[in-house]
Amino acid sequence: MTVLGVESSCDECSVAVVEDGRRVLGQVIATQLEEHAPFGGVVPEIASRTHTRWIVGVYERALAEAGIRATDLDGVAVTNRPGLVGSLVVGLSFAKGLAFGLGLPLVGVDHMRAHLYAPQLAEPVEYPFLGLLVSGGHTIIARADDPLSMEVLGTTIDDACGEAFDKVAKHYALGYPGGVAIDRLARAGDDRAFSFPDASLHKQDHRYDVSYSGLKTAVINQLDQFWNGSSQKSAENIAASFERAAVDILLRRLDRAAADTGLSRVVVGGGVAANTRMRASLAARSDLQVWFPPLELCTDNAAMIAGLGYHLLRSGRADGLDLDASARVAGFRRTCP
Ligand code: KG4
Ligand code: ZN
Repeated sequence: MTVLGVESSCDECSVAVVEDGRRVLGQVIATQLEEHAPFGGVVPEIASRTHTRWIVGVYERALAEAGIRATDLDGVAVTNRPGLVGSLVVGLSFAKGLAFGLGLPLVGVDHMRAHLYAPQLAEPVEYPFLGLLVSGGHTIIARADDPLSMEVLGTTIDDACGEAFDKVAKHYALGYPGGVAIDRLARAGDDRAFSFPDASLHKQDHRYDVSYSGLKTAVINQLDQFWNGSSQKSAENIAASFERAAVDILLRRLDRAAADTGLSRVVVGGGVAANTRMRASLAARSDLQVWFPPLELCTDNAAMIAGLGYHLLRSGRADGLDLDASARVAGFRRTCP
């Protein structure tokens, strides 16, 4: 079964062709980074308009790369949640038009579930496993029992992890997105120079939840003291200590989830999974088996949408042309033991 995937939930405009949920025949990912960089973050209005201008070209290039014609397709899968609704609607309308015109089944795909599926496109990962999804918009610790299931165990109660990186980087005037710049700066710093807080949330209600707002404020306060000359601590040391705290916050919750569920397989996804410290810390853990998808499958991409779309279509799921977009993750449910 050859499925076309469409992804437009944020600032990546992507179309991919995937065979049998495994083999990526072609994929184009057009990033809008340059469009949003002058504003220090993604501007929803610019994102949706840019998708509108780009999506047909991205689709044509993806088909050409796959070496197939539209009539060779067996189904269309499209991200319909979560994300910026104006951006989602562009991909959704395009996918509906295509499915209707070609007489193909259409299926809506949850973007976060697709992130958990992404590594399967590189090498098979046995279910069940824990998922750690960390991006600019989401911070989720989840359990997956098969491609179609995702149980959210924990999430952030305020800022997303990548958002904290971006906001701290903005204070450093490092530009957008800031995660890569902080990552680089931290390499030259002492990660023990500061001890930044890990907000202790009420354990019974928030066993696997995280908070990044307090950490972000504490780091920005240190930076202010550095800028106004009242502290001799180096910017590199602040960055390294921030990064250590940001990663450890997640790993502590992940450890709890691993101990409680008895699962040791972990799939990591989202832009922050590119972080050097995060990768090194997880790779060093002999008690966990960790899968990092290759970078183009780790950040937003349409191949993971087509891959999961294949399983949905095979299970008999198909959506009508009234399929709607939503800003939220499907069936969001937090479970505590
Ligand atoms: O998944 P993604 O490409 O887009 C969404 O947010 O959906 O993730 C982008 C986020 C940004 O917050 C960016 O600063 C962060 O991932 N990021 C990093 C690194 N590379 C990207 N954060 C820390 N270290 C990195 N190396
Ligand atoms: Zn994403």
